[in-house]
Amino acid sequence: MFSLNFIFIYLLDSSFSCLQNYIPPESLTLSCPVCRQTSILPEKGVCALQNNFFITNLMEVLQRDPECSRPEACSVLESVSAAAAGKPLCCPNHEGKVMEFYCESCETAMCLECTEGEHREHMTAVLKTQLDAIHSRLPQLTAAIELVSEISRQLSERKNEAVAEITSTFEELEQALHQRKTALITDLENICSAKQKVLQAQLSALLQGKEHIQSSCSFTEQALSHGSATEVLLVQKQMSERVNALARHDFPEKPHQNAHLDCQVETEGLRRSIQNLGVLLTTAAVAHTSVATGEGLRHAATGQHQTITVTTKDKDGELVRTGNAVLKAEITSADGSRAAETEITDNKNGTYEVGYTLRSEGEYSFSLLLYGQPVRGSPFRLRAVKPSDVPQSPDDVKRRVKSPSGTGGHIRQKAVRRPSSMYSTTKKKENPIEDELIYRVGSRGREKGEFTNLQGISASSNGRVVVADSNNQCIQVFSNDGQFKMRFGVRGRSPGQLQRPTGVTVDVNGDIVVADYDNRWVSIFSPDGKFKNKIGAGRLMGPKGVAVDKNGHIITVDNKACCVFIFQSNGKLVTKFGGRGTSDRQFAGPHFVAVNNKNEIIVTDFHNHSVKVYSADGEFLFKFGSHGEGNGQFNAPTGVAVDANGNIIVADWGNSRIQVFDSTGSFLSYINTSADPLYGPQGLALTSDGHVAVADSGNHCFKVYRYLQ
Ligand SMILES: *[C@@H]1O[C@H](CO)[C@@H](O)[C@H](O)[C@H]1NC(C)=O
Ligand SMILES: *[C@@H]1O[C@H](CO)[C@@H](O)[C@H](O)[C@H]1NC(C)=O
Ligand SMILES: *[C@@H]1O[C@H](CO)[C@@H](O)[C@H](O)[C@H]1NC(C)=O
Repeated sequence: MFSLNFIFIYLLDSSFSCLQNYIPPESLTLSCPVCRQTSILPEKGVCALQNNFFITNLMEVLQRDPECSRPEACSVLESVSAAAAGKPLCCPNHEGKVMEFYCESCETAMCLECTEGEHREHMTAVLKTQLDAIHSRLPQLTAAIELVSEISRQLSERKNEAVAEITSTFEELEQALHQRKTALITDLENICSAKQKVLQAQLSALLQGKEHIQSSCSFTEQALSHGSATEVLLVQKQMSERVNALARHDFPEKPHQNAHLDCQVETEGLRRSIQNLGVLLTTAAVAHTSVATGEGLRHAATGQHQTITVTTKDKDGELVRTGNAVLKAEITSADGSRAAETEITDNKNGTYEVGYTLRSEGEYSFSLLLYGQPVRGSPFRLRAVKPSDVPQSPDDVKRRVKSPSGTGGHIRQKAVRRPSSMYSTTKKKENPIEDELIYRVGSRGREKGEFTNLQGISASSNGRVVVADSNNQCIQVFSNDGQFKMRFGVRGRSPGQLQRPTGVTVDVNGDIVVADYDNRWVSIFSPDGKFKNKIGAGRLMGPKGVAVDKNGHIITVDNKACCVFIFQSNGKLVTKFGGRGTSDRQFAGPHFVAVNNKNEIIVTDFHNHSVKVYSADGEFLFKFGSHGEGNGQFNAPTGVAVDANGNIIVADWGNSRIQVFDSTGSFLSYINTSADPLYGPQGLALTSDGHVAVADSGNHCFKVYRYLQ
């Protein structure tokens, strides 16, 4: 609730005096006291504002014809004139009371007394619903708090454990170093003393020899100088023998050992090892953004090795580029027993391959836990069949063919055209080969149940499939199981006629909404095909796809203008956004549109090879896809639909395939169309029984597939 007076100030541009009183003359801007939005004033200030002719006219009418026949119009006019005159607004229900409040659920002004009556209930009812809504979130929040606290506790615990591990490892290392030091010193001492022993022995032998020689010399010299001739004669023989012996004696004069004893410790490598000793392993990966891809999540042939890929992402959905995350994979049978060994290869770049081989046929649960939490979509329902039940892939017969008539001929396609004789009847065909096709309906022609370049397709909640048969200029309706129900539409350029119907959707009332590319408008027909209304004429240049959101707004993609238009069902324009270009809020060639359960708008951009997602009022949210043939890449995306789980299913026109993404645009899988290949698929829709219906334009039929099973 807020004060009304200011609203009227702004409504009544014609009453400049209010604004002039409110805004100082030198002010360049004007700020709304209600929403605080600042607007830039014209150069000449308030006086230069445009007159609001609607209000001026209303006032004129009021002055001319005070006896207004419609009371509610009168009270509006009174309010307007009262406000224009600067008088407060009086309550029509409570005389003399000023209307200073606003009831949002009635969208009406009221006085203080009104707030005590029915409006009070409105306010309490609104509050109560809001309260209930937030109350129901409590258990979830409690569980989340427990989980996050538990992770936080585990993190602290892991840190303490790691600190303890580091401490004990390094203590052991220090001990080992100490032991080695002691051992080296001991060895040194042993070697040294052994060498010393040899040297000491040699030394003592040499010393002894030296002493003998010296004593012999001095004895002989004394005898010669002091002794008598007789004495000399007496000792001569003995002396000369001794001297001769000494002269001949072989003394160990050459060293018996060397002094070599070095210690060399090569520490360079070790030092480096120590510097890099110990690594801390961690990632920012979280399970709820991480994705698993590969057919092997859901299908396996017994006895054959399958692999799937897990790509880890952080909380913001950014790829994690390091390995070592703790990933567990488990395949269990219905009875809960483990059905196969799984082996996990860490690619060390944030992706992991999980391989397994199943021995027997059956249904399994394939669970992938990252740090104990399930990755997106886990557990997966996995079905194993005998290899003999899996038909051969027709990939090797694929060849490049010219693009079908319709859009953007320069994009090349991959597909095979089947001999049309195979499908020459208008009756639906049961799938002869086991891929994910349930049935196909139609062939080229002008009769009921035949098509020429069909484009849009849609499904109603009451089990009907509606097809925009573009070149036959009509709409055809079938049951969910492919039985022809009816056809309507007359070729022409008048209201109610069809010139080139390309998009079709069914609104909540069952009305059939058709985007007519060449008539440049959107036509609305009743469920039985009666023309009701046309919208967008004069604004649209080439509407191609169309969808209806939860508010009943009609959203159409203007392929020529590269814009998205949002209309009320009565044709009033709510908003539009886009323009030609490659920025996030522009399109290079938008084709089809879908709305998810959050009312977000999903647009395929054919020439940008991407899918762009916007909020209900046109804020860009995110985009996915790039040009190519890989998983999640496109070669000109066309039809798009969203299932009950928010998964986004996209027809990939140039690659002639259908891809399934999760609600954030992460690739999940392909719909297996290999047995009866598509040829330039266009519109795509989810049937009320949960299958995917696609307009296989180049083959002039529509096909219904199961998926994600
Ligand atoms: C990660 O490594 C694997 C195996 O080497 C490789 O096939 C894959 O393309 C890599 N992925 C990314 C995102 O780098
Ligand atoms: C698709 O189905 C065909 C059988 O029609 C089968 O041969 C092929 O392996 C399937 N492709 C995948 C990727 O599962
Ligand atoms: C698609 O749009 C992106 C920007 O969103 C741009 O960088 C890229 O070049 C565009 N690609 C094509 C093929 O137009």
